[in-house]
Amino acid sequence: MRNFNGLSARGAALVTGASRGLGFEMAKKLSALGFDLVITGRDGEALSRAAEAIGGNVSAVTADLSVPGEAERLYAAATSGGREISVLINNAGLGASGEAWTVPAARDAEIISVNAASALILTKLFLKDAAKRGFGALCNVCSVGAFQPGPYTASYYASKSFLHSYTLACRYEVKKYGVTVTSLCPGPLDTDFFRLAGAAKPALSMSAEKAADYAVKRILKGRKTVVPGVLNRLARLVPAGVKTKVIAKMKRIQNSE
Ligand SMILES: NC(=O)c1ccc[n+]([C@@H]2O[C@H](COP(=O)([O-])OP(=O)(O)OC[C@H]3O[C@@H](n4cnc5c(N)ncnc54)[C@H](OP(=O)(O)O)[C@@H]3O)[C@@H](O)[C@H]2O)c1
Repeated sequence: MRNFNGLSARGAALVTGASRGLGFEMAKKLSALGFDLVITGRDGEALSRAAEAIGGNVSAVTADLSVPGEAERLYAAATSGGREISVLINNAGLGASGEAWTVPAARDAEIISVNAASALILTKLFLKDAAKRGFGALCNVCSVGAFQPGPYTASYYASKSFLHSYTLACRYEVKKYGVTVTSLCPGPLDTDFFRLAGAAKPALSMSAEKAADYAVKRILKGRKTVVPGVLNRLARLVPAGVKTKVIAKMKRIQNSE
């Protein structure tokens, strides 16, 4: 019997976007807790390096989650040979910066495919198996950006709002089957994310390791919404309209630097 609350583990954890950043750090923690790992990303060499650094029993599957059919192929590869995925972390994600109408539609489509559509498909595939088995822990990595609109990074915030809402609805549906569902909502992290999104990294960024350390134990305990960082948790008390104005101002300053 898996005892997630006691943090003892058997079975495998599937972590998307685990070649670097938050996904890599969460995979490392899960491996240290005794989970076998299936990690994924687009860059096979980066994945191999990550697998070596994580240690333990790690399988790497390359997949581009912006491409239709890849989420299904990934889940089939992860569960092949009867491997039981007891934990799924939908972490792969990307953003874009700039006025909404200046962001290329292809980039927005990629954001929606990876951050929302692929996470939704993997959620369905995992919950179907987990509900039948009667246990499992799912975490969808959203963002504090899920809690209000994000001017100058509109499609990213919208994708995370979608995922957060979908995640919490699923949580209610599968509770009766003994399956937990968590929305992880980090604030700014010290990763490659902002550079790749064409934005400046905010001054107060948390290390991915610290965020992973805070998150993994809470995911395994089945917490509902997990927000690493006391300031990020306090910010949840601020009305969404006020936060939207502050975000707009901050992004304008960051983008002009
Ligand atoms: N950084 C932040 O401030 C922050 C704040 C809140 C929430 N988050 C969320 O946390 C998650 C991890 O972010 P991070 O900061 O660790 O970013 P990161 O360092 O850029 O890592 C992103 C990961 O996702 C993978 N990935 C990107 N596009 C993919 C695709 N099309 N198909 C498959 N994998 C893909 C990347 O691998 P490849 O490039 O090799 O594919 C990489 O492993 C994301 O969901 C992000 O939205 C980040």
